[in-house]
Formats: sequence, C-alpha cells, structure tokens
Amino acid sequence: MHVLVFANEKGGTGKSTTAVHAAIALAFKGARVACFDLDHRQRTMGRYLDNRRETIRRTGRDLPMPVYETHDGESMDYFSSTLERLGENADFLVIDTPGRDDKFARISVTNADTLVTPMNDSFVDFDLIGQVDPETFRVSRPSFYSEMIWESRKRRAKADGESIDWVVLRNRMQHIEARNMKRVSEAIDQLSKRVGFRVISGLSERVIYRELFPQGLTMLDAGEFGAMGLSHVAARQELREMMSGLALPEVALPLFA
Ligand SMILES: Nc1ncnc2c1ncn2[C@@H]1O[C@H](COP(=O)(O)OP(=O)(O)O)[C@@H](O)[C@H]1O
Ligand SMILES: [Mg+2]
Repeated sequence: MHVLVFANEKGGTGKSTTAVHAAIALAFKGARVACFDLDHRQRTMGRYLDNRRETIRRTGRDLPMPVYETHDGESMDYFSSTLERLGENADFLVIDTPGRDDKFARISVTNADTLVTPMNDSFVDFDLIGQVDPETFRVSRPSFYSEMIWESRKRRAKADGESIDWVVLRNRMQHIEARNMKRVSEAIDQLSKRVGFRVISGLSERVIYRELFPQGLTMLDAGEFGAMGLSHVAARQELREMMSGLALPEVALPLFA
C-alpha cells in the first residue's frame, strides 16, 4: 500500500481539493483507494465524498468511489485502528490533514510514502516553507515547517529505511501577475535544491473546482456533464498532468475482476 499525505500547516492552500481529485483519479484507474480525513472540523474531504456517495445513490450511476473515514481529532486508538482497517484492502491510502499543527498530521507525515504540500503562488504561502530576502527575493533560509519535514524524513529513514518523496504542488496557478509568479517560482526552485523536495504543477485557478463540490464530482466524471466544454477538457488534462507529476506506483490490475 502506498500512503499519500496532503499536508501544509496553512489553511486554504488546496489540500482537500487536490486530495479528493487525486483519490478519485486513482479510483478511475482501477486502484483500490481509501481516504482518511483528519480535519474533523472542516471535513472538506469527507463532505466531498458524502456528496459523491449521495450523487451515486440519486442517479444510480456507477462512479468510482473510494472508501473513506473521518477522524474525531482526539483518539489515538481510533486513529490507529482506522488506519489499519482502511489499509487492509487498499492500494492507496490518501490522508488529508488540517491546516494547522496537529499531532495526527505529524504522525501521518512521518509515515507518508509521498507527501504533497500544495501552495499558492504567493510569498504569503511560501513563507511557511522558506523565507526570502525582501530586496532580492532570494531564499534566505528554510522555515520551521521545512525543518520539521526534514526531521520527519530522518526519523522515517531510521525507523524503516524508507524515504518520503516530498512534493511541493503549485495550486491555483494563474496566467496573470507574471512578475510575482516568476519570483515565487524562482524562490521555490532555489529552496527545492536546499531542502530536497520536487516541484510540480497542480490545478490552475478554475471555478469548476469549486462548483463540483455539491455533487462530489470531478472532471473525470465526464458522463455527468453531457457535452464537455473546452475548459473542462483543459481541466481534465491538467489533472492528468498533476497525477503523472506525482509519479505514484502503477497498480497491477486483476485480469478478471
Ligand atoms: N485550483 C483551484 N481553483 C479554484 N478554486 C480552488 C482551487 N483549489 C482550491 N480552491 C478553493 O480554495 C479554497 C481552499 O481550498 P481547500 O482545498 O479547502 O484548501 P485546504 O484544504 O488547504 O484548506 C476552497 O474554496 C476551494 O474550493
Ligand atoms: Mg482542507
């Protein structure tokens, strides 16, 4: 089983949106996907999947559907037993975490095979992982959060010799504001060499990512849209590119399901 964790201590960076889209994209490929929402207050991932389940019930359509649970945010026993249960029949376990420091998020990060930190093209978001010089915009030093991930990686290597593939995912990319985007982009590239993460493109800024929530759908559920507009086709393509950027292991599918 491959553990995919979406984490960033800052809220509103796109953790839940990208986590749900990644989980559904994996399910579309035929993988067995389990989701664990650790953000019991917002419960965005859990609510998204509630909505999806309801759409399946209402329309009778056979859409790929991950199994999912939401943590209560308190109990270590519940956390461990849910992880175990979800892991039993899954090729991928997708964990969404709250946008704040959280004990269970830290444990999840240390156990991640792939750790995804979504970030908007903004120095406000970048500040969590690195600080820049106010005049040159060059990276002056990694921030607290990068150091924490660094420690988690060391702990993981010691525990089972495995490594965590840390991926910074640029979310809500826009094609305006070119100067800021270029500066942020340069700072991310510099920092990636220093603290060892990969940088990939995520989803760009599109209303469709907000609109699909009430039905729990994604652009992959093409049948639900009727004729797809050009922007949906482009959105589907960028989701595919995001998935290939994550470079997750391929799942061997049974010949006769
Ligand atoms: N690519 C995108 N395009 C448009 N809106 C987005 C995109 N990604 C996220 N959003 C919106 O941004 C807000 C925060 O996203 P969310 O996934 O809930 O972040 P987090 O889980 O990190 O707090 C939500 O309103 C969501 O719909
Ligand atoms: Mg969230």
